Amino acid sequence: MNPHKPLPVYIPINRRRFFSSMAAASAGFTLPGFLAEALTQSPIVTQGPYYPLADDIPLDKDNDLVQLGDSLTAATGVVTYVSGRVLDASGNPVKNALVECWHADHEGDYAYSTGTGRNPACDPNFAGFGQFITGSSGAFRFRTIKAGLYNGRTRHFHWGVTLPGRTTRSCTQTAWNETAYANDGTTWATQNSNDSVFAALSAAQKAAVFLNFAAVDGTTTGEVAANWDFVSGFTPVEPTYPAPGGFVVTGEAVAGPDGTVRFKLVIPAYANYCYEIYGNPTLADLEWQALPFSLTQTGSIDRNKFVATQEGSLSLYVDAAASKGFYKVSFRVPGENIGTP
Ligand SMILES: [Fe+2]
Repeated sequence: MNPHKPLPVYIPINRRRFFSSMAAASAGFTLPGFLAEALTQSPIVTQGPYYPLADDIPLDKDNDLVQLGDSLTAATGVVTYVSGRVLDASGNPVKNALVECWHADHEGDYAYSTGTGRNPACDPNFAGFGQFITGSSGAFRFRTIKAGLYNGRTRHFHWGVTLPGRTTRSCTQTAWNETAYANDGTTWATQNSNDSVFAALSAAQKAAVFLNFAAVDGTTTGEVAANWDFVSGFTPVEPTYPAPGGFVVTGEAVAGPDGTVRFKLVIPAYANYCYEIYGNPTLADLEWQALPFSLTQTGSIDRNKFVATQEGSLSLYVDAAASKGFYKVSFRVPGENIGTP
């Protein structure tokens, strides 16, 4: 292996057909104004109570929220494309950023809110949550529906962005300029102007997170699209050897000892580098949590770090605590292997 080659980041894409259709659908709706807004740091607001808990994060967590799993039935609502870029404070695109999107279905119900699994009141065809890892252009894209209304809020999308090398998810929310009406046609009590999140933002911050929807050409079902950039105040740390860094991987469920389930992470490893695993952050704590692991599928979960002895593929096994979600594997250069992860 080339020790100076950047690590690949693995993200499973169940439905590549979506990406091909996405490319066609997204053509032509890039809106002007990127540069004017690029230097306004995206406001960091509450994550809210509806980020999926670790045990609830769905297996289907790709960037198409309109369809769940392999179902061909679309979620109810106005199909909405939201795309943009993750930028650092200088306006440079950030690759390998984890972008997460979640929001209410067309009737205002979230898919994951209870900690006990999927909310039965939510549209069964609505994924409710999706993730995307940016490429070299920093671009992300999601297909979803316009978020529904629930008491106390105007319509909004939730976003979480985790930059390479960081263990903190930055959360923001986007809205759009549209008078909100309840299903019976009455004016919704909460509009952007008196919403608890958006009313507190400055004019520049609002401009940075308000979406300008445009009709998607060639569709007959009222599909809309909008573009916005997430501008981070942080500088990303690219996971490039020989510098220290981190990258995001998924875990494959495998049988553990005594009927348990473990999650196997396969990573490229380099001799004398120290590896640590962090679990996907949950509602209670926005920090990724260090997870003890084992080097064997059924052995004792007995370590928080491991110094690779040779180059090659390395398998690490964790318990179910951060099931189904992403894991972050961080690594330290040789000679910096001390300390608590
Ligand atoms: Fe919300």
